[in-house]
Amino acid sequence: MLRGERKETVLITGASSGIGEALAREFAAHGHDLILVARGADNLNALADKLVASYQVMVSVQPTDLSQAGSAEGLALTLQREGLPVDILVNSAGVLEHGAFADVAPADHQRIVQLNVAGLTDVLAQFLPAMVARKSGRIMNVSSVTAFLPVPGLATYAATKAYVLSLSEALADELRGSGITVTALCPGFTATSMLAGAGAVGENMPSILVGDVETVARKGFKACMKGSPIVVPGTINLVSTLLMRALPKWLVRRAAGLTWRSIR
Ligand SMILES: NC(=O)c1ccc[n+]([C@@H]2O[C@H](COP(=O)([O-])OP(=O)(O)OC[C@H]3O[C@@H](n4cnc5c(N)ncnc54)[C@H](OP(=O)(O)O)[C@@H]3O)[C@@H](O)[C@H]2O)c1
Repeated sequence: MLRGERKETVLITGASSGIGEALAREFAAHGHDLILVARGADNLNALADKLVASYQVMVSVQPTDLSQAGSAEGLALTLQREGLPVDILVNSAGVLEHGAFADVAPADHQRIVQLNVAGLTDVLAQFLPAMVARKSGRIMNVSSVTAFLPVPGLATYAATKAYVLSLSEALADELRGSGITVTALCPGFTATSMLAGAGAVGENMPSILVGDVETVARKGFKACMKGSPIVVPGTINLVSTLLMRALPKWLVRRAAGLTWRSIR
């Protein structure tokens, strides 16, 4: 469904809430046309109505369950049929499950991996070749500060975010000089429905450590347009990630374990 008048196009997955929704607003505020992807059509349509009215951009709504095999290919074919090229790709769709690994249902571990790893990789595999052929494009993958360390209580989730960071850094370098940039956006704890659903992790988090989606989106947009390989919004988050990369791995692992035991 197309509304309004046509400009440069940004595809955002996970656009119906939280960080993805804030990124959709940020890109729209800068005059970019949008393709909004998530499962819930109602939320996407409601957001599309607001963005068209506020920013006079064109918005295409594409309800898609990206955890299903073949869904990214279906999305790419639909957009090809509709004549919508993807100039900028933002992968924000993600899910989290908290708790000790053995207490999380096997299907929930799979759900996290299917979306955060397999779905994201397939979206990249579907849309990157056309950017390479055009010699232009921008990609932003939403990772997390949890990508920088093992996180007891969020073990599978944090491992998927480490995958996203590693993949993004590798692609950023692989595509150097190609006209395509790749940015890993690594937010710290951010006030969204995901954090609200993260049990003790969200509830016991000191408010000073919880960022807002607008700041994350603003920093992410700037870094994506600049082509920075990694952006960590927030000074405390940035310093923490620098420390986590500098300190010995055993120390980071022990500190993460102590933190988990103190807040669970
Ligand atoms: N909040 C934080 O503290 C935080 C910190 C660092 C990184 N992140 C990352 O930021 C990203 C966005 O998270 P958020 O906090 O904004 O969470 P959120 O508010 O729960 O948003 C998640 C988005 O993903 C979509 N989604 C979920 N399952 C999907 C599926 N199978 N197929 C397609 N879309 C799906 C959701 O829409 P539907 O349910 O309608 O599909 C929603 O639009 C995630 O990658 C997350 O890991 C979050």
